[in-house]
Parts: sequence; C-alpha cells; structure tokens
Amino acid sequence: MGYFITFEGVEGCGKTTQIKMLSDNLLKLGYSTKLTREPGGCKISDKIRSILLDAENSGMSPLTELMLYAAARAQHIEEVIVPSIESNKIVLCDRFSDATVAYQSYGRGIDISIISTLNSYACQGITPDLTVLVDCEPSLGLMRARKRIEESAGPREERFELETLAFHNRVRKGYLQLASEQSDRFLIVDGSDTIEAISAAIATKVLPRIPEKLRAVC
Ligand code: TMP
Repeated sequence: MGYFITFEGVEGCGKTTQIKMLSDNLLKLGYSTKLTREPGGCKISDKIRSILLDAENSGMSPLTELMLYAAARAQHIEEVIVPSIESNKIVLCDRFSDATVAYQSYGRGIDISIISTLNSYACQGITPDLTVLVDCEPSLGLMRARKRIEESAGPREERFELETLAFHNRVRKGYLQLASEQSDRFLIVDGSDTIEAISAAIATKVLPRIPEKLRAVC
C-alpha cells in the first residue's frame, strides 16, 4: 500500500505551489507519486468542480454545495485515489475531506454529523496518513488569491474568494481546530513565510514520515 498526504489551508495560503514542490522533491528521491486535487482530479469530478467554483452560481444552497463536494469526492476516490494507493504510490492531494469540515461546517454552519456521514460514504474508509496545513491569515491569503485570479487567463473559479473575510476566518479556525484535535496526523507550516522557507520546512517534516519501502528500486 502507498501513502496518502493531503494539503489544506485557506484561499491563497500557497498550498498548491507547495504540494507541487514536494511532489518534485519526492520524484527526485526515487518515489512514485500521484499528484491530484479536490474538487476534481478526474473527468467527472472536474465537471462538478466547474459548477462548484463558478461565481455565477452564487445562489447555490449550502446543502447542494455539500452534496456536490461529496459526489466529486466519491468519484475521485473510486477512480484515482484507491487505485493509486493500491499501486504503492505516494498520493498527494490538494484538499480533501478536512476541507469539507472547515468550509461547509465551520464556514457554512452545516452540522458536523451530516458532513462526517457523507465523508464516510464518499471516502470508502480512506483517511490521509498525513495532512500538511499551510496556515496563514485569510486577509493575506485572499489578497494573493485575488491577484492570481486577475492574472489568470482560465475560467474565473472565484465563488469562494468572493465570500466575506468573516467566512474565511471561520474556515481557518476550523482547520486549526482539526489540527489541534488530530495533532498526530497534522503538520502545520507558516504560509506567510517565503516559498523556499515553507518548502524546506515541509520537506524536513514530511520526508522522515514516508515509509522507506515505497522508494523505487532503481
Ligand atoms: P482550491 O481553490 O484549493 O482549488 O479549492 C477549491 C475551493 O473549494 C476552495 O475555495 C475550497 C473549496 N472546498 C470546499 O468548500 N469544500 C471541499 O470539500 C473542498 C475539497 C474544497
């Protein structure tokens, strides 16, 4: 069996840059990795992603939103995550089930028991071995995220970036709460640091946790 690492954090915390850097580091060290993301990661889940993040869908109800995240996850688990873990890869996933707790429970106010039930159906018993929380002040993260959206030529995936600062502060609080409750699984790094310093901190903390048997025999 492989090893499952997820990256989490508020908008603009830098986790997408960091997960790619960790993946490159692992490849150089001879590990076989699968880099993926949620919502998305496969064709059907990517279609659900575009509905979820489209700013035109501002009228989406919190329950519809929750169920679409769960649907995207169910497909991604079945099609990508389980097969990759079974083929001994290190799976690196940009957001996973903790995001649903932080955004849909702490952010939107949906009862945590509904989220736990849906997550347990969608995840087929899969939980991350390790979760890197790239923590930063939402005001800093939102500034970075809005700049990235303005500079991007792709679709404007900004439904959440348009939420209030109070919403994003609740999301951050949710992540920090999860990290304090499950401190064995979570590693927290400071997302306000430089890209290089964050990457070095992640490598130092993550590499010793990866089972040596997963390194490819060259
Ligand atoms: P991204 O910007 O990191 O690609 O994530 C897409 C957005 O989806 C981000 O605003 C967080 C949100 N999200 C949830 O609200 N719940 C979830 O379960 C997941 C995976 C993401």
